[in-house]
Amino acid sequence: REIPHLTMCVSCPDFERAARAVLPHKSFVYASTSANTGLSLKTNLDDWGRINFRPRVMRNVGDVDSRRSIFGHTSQYPFYISPMGTLGAIHPEAEPEMVRGAVRKGAHMVVSTASTKTSQQIMQAYIDEQTRLNNKSPTQLFYQYYMPVDRKKAIELMHIVKKSGYKGIWITVDTPVLGKRTADRVLQAEEALAVGLDEEGTAEWEAGGENAFAPAMGGRVVSGQLSPHTTWEDLAWIRKEWEGPIVLKGIQTADDAKLAYEYGCDGILLSNHGGRQLHTAPSALMTLLEIRTYCPEIIGKLEIFLDGGLRDGSDVLKALCLGATAVGVGRPFMYALAAYGSQGVERCIDVLAEELTLGMRLLGVTALDQLKPEMVNASRLLNE
Ligand code: FNR
Repeated sequence: REIPHLTMCVSCPDFERAARAVLPHKSFVYASTSANTGLSLKTNLDDWGRINFRPRVMRNVGDVDSRRSIFGHTSQYPFYISPMGTLGAIHPEAEPEMVRGAVRKGAHMVVSTASTKTSQQIMQAYIDEQTRLNNKSPTQLFYQYYMPVDRKKAIELMHIVKKSGYKGIWITVDTPVLGKRTADRVLQAEEALAVGLDEEGTAEWEAGGENAFAPAMGGRVVSGQLSPHTTWEDLAWIRKEWEGPIVLKGIQTADDAKLAYEYGCDGILLSNHGGRQLHTAPSALMTLLEIRTYCPEIIGKLEIFLDGGLRDGSDVLKALCLGATAVGVGRPFMYALAAYGSQGVERCIDVLAEELTLGMRLLGVTALDQLKPEMVNASRLLNE
């Protein structure tokens, strides 16, 4: 099928349409699937549109600066590429190709444990691209960590990641078990029917879930080995093995945000895993509003990230107004990579960045630290 010319992609949904046209059905299902009836994903997308800006006018907005620092590492933008497993399922060059796009534009990226390529191969692609650009890009790589059941393996992996040069770990805490990925199930049932398997035959695949679609993962397979036993107490030994920043990815209540702060985490990522885990989980925006109500004192004490459903630079601004350090964007980059490789990733960054700086000007700010809670009206979301 025809893919639109890259210049036809002027906003995030355009990349999704392009990916749908180019990807095999199975790969598109992997990228787009969500949990149960899909309501969490829909809520993630919808909630950003349910708060409005309160723009200020008559301000000099000639020059704007959209740079933001994550744990002391300045990025050109207050958004980064979210960790997504098995990019080899959607592009032959997988994660290294995503990294090349990020480096060329100066955006940070969080690399998934469930990547097709090893953490070292991905870091090598980063180093090679930096070398090509005379090390001028501010991009840094961080590492998303799925806790393996085996502690020895867990520690080993942490040391490899540290040695490779990743600047922080994002420990995913919303996935003690894999959510019900509905479209995956349908696809699996279709495939099983096609080869004459009964329901038993699907069990092995389901145990693999998100990462079963990662034939190249070899020893790094984490699914089926995801530990449902991890608790807050584990943070003590993790801290001993990892000196850099620790972010908990998948915080969904003010209570857990507060606990993360009390347990000494450096950051929290408010996320429901792109609507792929708990059915009707809160959107990250809703969780941020809850934190503002119940434990506002933690805002500013640790770095707060959000992800899920951000599809426009102005969504990013809303998160920052309410206290986020930066946000993660997932599927749009997956789709951009699928359809156009690293050039698509660059284009997607440009699209978000342009919306962001345009939004800053129209909102009456010239730097991100001027964004304040009073610049948004969240009453519709709060009053329901
Ligand atoms: C993910 N996500 C994810 N998260 C994680 O911690 N480890 C992982 O391996 C993956 N893999 C993954 C694969 C795919 C195809 C998707 C779409 C998502 C979740 C991801 O990091 C992030 O939380 C969401 O994607 C953010 O939502 P949006 O931007 O996709 O709406």
